[in-house]
Amino acid sequence: MKTIKIHSIISCLFIFGLFSCNQKKELKAEKTTTIPTEIKLDLLDLQQKNKLGKDTIVTIVNDPVYHKAKKYKGVSAVAIIKNEIDLTKIDPKNTKIVFECIDGYKPEMPLELFLSAKPYLAFEDMDAPKGKQWETILKDGNEMNAAPFYIVYPSVSEKDSQYKWPYNLIKIYLEPLHKSTLELYPLKDRKLEAGYNLFQKQCLTCHSLNGIGGTMGPELNYPKSVTEYWKEKELVDYIVNPASFRHKVKMPTLGLSQQQSQQIVDYLKYMSENKKKN
Ligand code: HEC
Repeated sequence: MKTIKIHSIISCLFIFGLFSCNQKKELKAEKTTTIPTEIKLDLLDLQQKNKLGKDTIVTIVNDPVYHKAKKYKGVSAVAIIKNEIDLTKIDPKNTKIVFECIDGYKPEMPLELFLSAKPYLAFEDMDAPKGKQWETILKDGNEMNAAPFYIVYPSVSEKDSQYKWPYNLIKIYLEPLHKSTLELYPLKDRKLEAGYNLFQKQCLTCHSLNGIGGTMGPELNYPKSVTEYWKEKELVDYIVNPASFRHKVKMPTLGLSQQQSQQIVDYLKYMSENKKKN
């Protein structure tokens, strides 16, 4: 295995050196192509087939899930992606990586940012008590752990919200960056961009519109928009503070102002006139 890797690295360098001019031209031509269909990696399946690659010990100084220093056994996430997908066929600048977690949570980030951050796919917790694979913690009163996979970055601050640290991770998708950006953009009324931006950042990980987005929370537009069966004022208040409406609500309070919530609702009203089945 090792010799093949070294061999291919050397031959890559060799080819790059020899044909660097040609190579550049080719790369330029590739830039305009985005992946035609989405690519999906089923991590449990890869693990079962022993295709995750060589593991290593990863140290995280301040783990955002366990809130302390942690050690994991993990594999390079970049190596997995490169092994499974021919990255010369896609343009990382126009591609995003979407993480699917067990509960339907679907965070995402630009692929280029992910690849440059040296992420690891942790699959075993070195701090776990004897006989267990993961340490458990209490979250919202429930015992949980990060199994089966957890994306960690030894060299990224846990406070930098551009980077996602999905746990209970099962699948990885690569999709064109602009699928949701374009399809959900308020093209016919640009004034709604503020609400659209807020929705993309704060809501889309859990909620879909027209079938695009996360599935942890309900679809909010199709077939009936929430703006059609909620009173507007109540909807704005709910988005600001869901717990003031529902006991043990799963939707978090996101720290939005009343005005930001109104911008989101204005955008949702626009989307209610632009329904589409995806
Ligand atoms: C972490 C996931 C999560 C995020 C982020 C989130 N929600 Fe929710 N949301 C939920 C879940 C789960 C429910 C289902 C009700 C519950 O909380 O138990 C819900 C319910 C709702 C409902 C009520 C739907 C209905 O008809 O009952 C609305 C409206 C809503 N969310 C809007 C939003 C908006 C707007 C945002 C962004 C500002 C947002 N949510 C962000 C998880 C989330």
